[in-house]
Amino acid sequence: MAILVTGGAGFIGSHAVKHFIERGEEVVVVDNLSTGHRAAVHQQATFYEADVADSARIETILRNHSVTAVVHFAAFSLVGESVVLPYRYYRNNTCGTLGLLEAMDAAGVKQIVFSSTAATYGIPDEMPIRETTPQRPINPYGHSKLFVERILRDKVLSDAEFGFVALRYFNVAGAAADGSLGEDHDPETHLIPIALQPAIEKRHCVTIFGSDYETDDGTCIRDYIHVEDLCDAHRLALGAIRPGDARFYNLGIGRGFSVKEVIDAATRVTGQNVPIELGERRPGDPPVLVAAADAAREELGWQPQMTDLDEIIGSAWRWYQQHPDGYADAATRSADNG
Ligand SMILES: NC(=O)c1ccc[n+]([C@@H]2O[C@H](COP(=O)([O-])OP(=O)(O)OC[C@H]3O[C@@H](n4cnc5c(N)ncnc54)[C@H](O)[C@@H]3O)[C@@H](O)[C@H]2O)c1
Repeated sequence: MAILVTGGAGFIGSHAVKHFIERGEEVVVVDNLSTGHRAAVHQQATFYEADVADSARIETILRNHSVTAVVHFAAFSLVGESVVLPYRYYRNNTCGTLGLLEAMDAAGVKQIVFSSTAATYGIPDEMPIRETTPQRPINPYGHSKLFVERILRDKVLSDAEFGFVALRYFNVAGAAADGSLGEDHDPETHLIPIALQPAIEKRHCVTIFGSDYETDDGTCIRDYIHVEDLCDAHRLALGAIRPGDARFYNLGIGRGFSVKEVIDAATRVTGQNVPIELGERRPGDPPVLVAAADAAREELGWQPQMTDLDEIIGSAWRWYQQHPDGYADAATRSADNG
């Protein structure tokens, strides 16, 4: 009996694999390493370099390991790239997931936790955003994920034994408390790692895209959730799935921080000034995105532990101090060690 984690070499997936293994689960990882890192995969996980779209291979993996549930992180997630290369996103995120679901069907695996996103809401009608807030994505990335939510709903209607939980993440941040894992994206588009990069001389300054929004300090506000709290929600979601379930939960801490607040926190945490430049607003950036995450708390019993911005950024900072070149240096170290 094992859990299959797709995208387990990526930022969030690698933390989830560690989380499950430390709680006694047998974990199998499928990742094509398109954006992930082999060195990020926990040594006790069984790793397959494979694409989720390869249904035949995935079916064999599911059968060979008697997999009972899938946690599906594998996807592309650069919003701007999705606008330029929409087919790439629909192919990988939507069609790729179909390949995975067909393999699950063939192997009789009936449970999945799916990584969805706040990007499915687009520019929301209400704040904070509830699970019932209308979903109107404004880019192909958001649509590619919303289509998967639709496919999963339809599957439940056609198969009484199937059940799923779709978790709509807000801004995921931080790193493993023991400093073993962290965020290593290329290009990096997430604000917290970007705000830390000047302190490790990987960036000259941080561009603030828009400082004239109708917020207290004029910059955009986002809801940051620590990656380990996110993993805990996945564990709880997996335990909660029952046949016929079609559940959707927002995952955020329910409180927003502005771009300037994040930069101020990065200055406090690193003890170094973060140089900034003011840029234009980016099209499609809503001024405020904050989750109403009561449903996950009430129905899954989820309780995020890291709600202090300095603590969240502090955990990321520990990772960057130890791994200024990300997993590149981890790979070099393990090669050096034979
Ligand atoms: N990071 C965030 O703030 C955030 C917010 C909302 C939703 N999400 C979602 O969470 C998931 C994980 O995000 P992340 O930040 O860890 O991204 P990531 O790029 O670090 O990880 C994705 C992993 O999936 C793998 N992958 C991609 N396509 C694949 C395929 N076809 N077959 C096999 N492996 C494949 C990549 O190699 C990578 O290891 C994604 O589905 C993303 O859309 C992330």
